[in-house]
Amino acid sequence: MSSTNLNRRSFLTRAFTGTAAGALASIAPFSLASTASVSPIKLNYGPAPGIAKLNANENPYGPSAGALEAIMQASKTGGAYYADAAGTVLIDMIAEKYSLAPENVTLSAGSSGVLSSTALMASTKGRILGPDLFWDTTARAPEHQGKDGILRLPKTADLSIDLDAFYSAITDDVAMVQVTNPNNPTGTTVDPKALEAFCIKASKKCLVLVDEAYNELTDSPEKHSMIHLINKGHNVVVARTFSKIYGLAGLRVGYLLSTPENIDAISRFGMGGYSMNQAGLAAAIASFNDEAFLTYSKEKIIEGRSMVFDAVKANGLTALPSTTSFVFVNLGNGNAEVFRQKMAEQNVMIRGIYQDYTNWSRVSMGRIEDVQKYVNAMPIALEAMYQSVV
Ligand SMILES: Cc1ncc(COP(=O)(O)O)c(C=O)c1O
Repeated sequence: MSSTNLNRRSFLTRAFTGTAAGALASIAPFSLASTASVSPIKLNYGPAPGIAKLNANENPYGPSAGALEAIMQASKTGGAYYADAAGTVLIDMIAEKYSLAPENVTLSAGSSGVLSSTALMASTKGRILGPDLFWDTTARAPEHQGKDGILRLPKTADLSIDLDAFYSAITDDVAMVQVTNPNNPTGTTVDPKALEAFCIKASKKCLVLVDEAYNELTDSPEKHSMIHLINKGHNVVVARTFSKIYGLAGLRVGYLLSTPENIDAISRFGMGGYSMNQAGLAAAIASFNDEAFLTYSKEKIIEGRSMVFDAVKANGLTALPSTTSFVFVNLGNGNAEVFRQKMAEQNVMIRGIYQDYTNWSRVSMGRIEDVQKYVNAMPIALEAMYQSVV
């Protein structure tokens, strides 16, 4: 059997091997009783009408027209069957794009799956080290299982990631460092040369995970990516997702790139092909190289972002520079949770406080008309916030 077949087979069978059994035990069984009296509920699969949903880094410009057609076709002809053929096609496409082998690639339902598998794998060897503020949902997975929590670097004044401090903090009990680049919720990007040097140095001491969920939205995606380090065999893992620029968050497709050894070890903590579905894979395959759609999607996000920056300035505030689909706004002496509530009263949904960053407020891009609602609501919400904070 060729190594490609081995990879494909392991993609499909990992779900029920090794420690994945432990993860399965915690999944509540589906009860047939719940289908006994199905009522014809009218579901809003997206945001409720009239709501500007700008709180979760989704991208309303997807799915692309090609993806929608593929979803329909795949569901019609393949909805009754497991998605192994589509999974192997997407793995091959990803491997080809980055000049890697299929053994360097694994998939999951959104990148959250592969990211939490990576965290769980690392936690068998030691702690996870991250900046003070990053998208840590999956790095917290070991903590949820009773292991030690994330080690965090001290805050920096400009909310950037201090790579020297990061390197110095890699002690013997650190099994993995995690860099989110561009970072969420700050929206900032680390200098690519500095990050490359850090990854090479740090990966000699422990596993380095670079979460590149927003890479395609940067000015120069290739320059900002650390994927080339995998080609060179460094102990680096890169995560990517179809949830952001591709506009497929609800269809749940993400992927992980690393050495075959790391991919094999990490895959033991996931569900393999059983976590994938035909509709999501079809949408990902149809949009992966759809340059016209990707350009359109990026332009719309940048258009929204510049509207937000103009509004921030017009209201006497500042924001961190962003190369992503969201902006981290400094509310000065305001309070992000009060601001969130005052925006919600105007049907604009944004994020509240992160950790102890009480005056920082994150807004995600959405449809231009929804970003316009944010712009219109901002002065009213700020005024109400200042009145209630005083
Ligand atoms: C930096 C980062 N990584 C990963 C994810 C997970 O996204 P998904 O599981 O949809 O790929 C998110 C979601 O917002 C994110 O911000």
